[in-house]
Amino acid sequence: MLSWDEFDQEDAVAAKPAAKAAPHVAQAALDKLDNVAESAVQDAREVTSDDSDAVARAKSALNQLDIQEGLDELEGSSARVTVDSKRMINCRSDLNQLVPFKYDWAWQKYLDGCANHWMPQEVNMNADIALWKSKDGLTDDERRIVMRNLGFFSTADSLVANNLALAVYRLITNPECRQYILRQAFEEAIHTHAYQYCIESLGMDEGEIFNMYHEIPSVAKKAAWGLKYTRAISDPQFNTGTVETDKELLRNLIAYYCVLEGVFFYCGFTQILSMGRRNKMTGVAEQFQYILRDESMHLNFGIDVINQIKIENPHLWDAAMKDEATQMILQGTQLEIEYARDTMPRGVLGMNAAMMEDYLKFIANRRLSQIGLKEEYPGTTNPFPWMSEIMDLKKEKNFFETRVIEYQTGGALSWD
Ligand SMILES: [Fe+2]
Ligand SMILES: [Fe+2]
Repeated sequence: MLSWDEFDQEDAVAAKPAAKAAPHVAQAALDKLDNVAESAVQDAREVTSDDSDAVARAKSALNQLDIQEGLDELEGSSARVTVDSKRMINCRSDLNQLVPFKYDWAWQKYLDGCANHWMPQEVNMNADIALWKSKDGLTDDERRIVMRNLGFFSTADSLVANNLALAVYRLITNPECRQYILRQAFEEAIHTHAYQYCIESLGMDEGEIFNMYHEIPSVAKKAAWGLKYTRAISDPQFNTGTVETDKELLRNLIAYYCVLEGVFFYCGFTQILSMGRRNKMTGVAEQFQYILRDESMHLNFGIDVINQIKIENPHLWDAAMKDEATQMILQGTQLEIEYARDTMPRGVLGMNAAMMEDYLKFIANRRLSQIGLKEEYPGTTNPFPWMSEIMDLKKEKNFFETRVIEYQTGGALSWD
């Protein structure tokens, strides 16, 4: 087994003479070392008779390379970053310097996200496959719920990932937040993988499921609603820096974090988890449970980002913007209520569309108040308190009790 102690000892021995030397002597020695290194680098670049044609061409190309342009770029951002110079948007300091942290919460969420890593193949799907294929295993209403939700989510997480990578990432000018956004983008890829894994395991018609987002109106409307906000800021020419463009970015963040991930996921999550609580489609439900856990963190991160942008740019959060944000959340809630009615034309799994409507209004109130807006559905209560328990990470001590702890690389996990 490797021991880091040995490496430390070697370093300590090598470092000893330099530590004893006087500062000017040490500097002279370092300068001499620089000269030796420079000439060694030049030697490495020289084309020799032993070099193949390909190696010789690679060396010649590097010898002709003008690195000044790249060095100038670094020079422009070479000042040491301070906490005070960091800003969520329109920051001018070097974004390649992760530390010092300004937004500790963003870094903590990155660490928490990594600590919760999971993969779809870790979930045993055997019981689901048997139930899905048996003639009387599920009612038509239950099958509709599974199909519609896999249809919606299989593309919705791709929309979220694309919005992050192609639109949001570039415009959030803070390295610790970018670090979390990269983690979130990977988690969205895992979620899309999880839905694909369910669809494949259950032997569903992949074309039918993956095309629901433009063939089934209640699914299509939600996707189309989100996509228009990606379109608004994904043009490479788009930049923040004016009140209008800063507000456009804020609209996108509200659309995706508060509505797509904050409202549009909740009818489906509740339906599938309710199925799992009744011991049906437990593998699919377990996948959704892992996803919900990730999503609650995405949502909380987004809320923190939105609120931080408001703090740093109070002029953006004027009466018009507040009204717009409220309207967006209410529109999203309305679309999700329509989705609930379409996926549950009758009562099923101890719930119905009316109860879901109450739940969605309760969720909408939460989203409004989380970004400092007035609740629009006063007096609404939560008809599904068990959902809050599932989402409360601290209470879920045994969340991972069914998972396979050891990761395998280069192959799938076996459940035999
Ligand atoms: Fe996701
Ligand atoms: Fe997400």
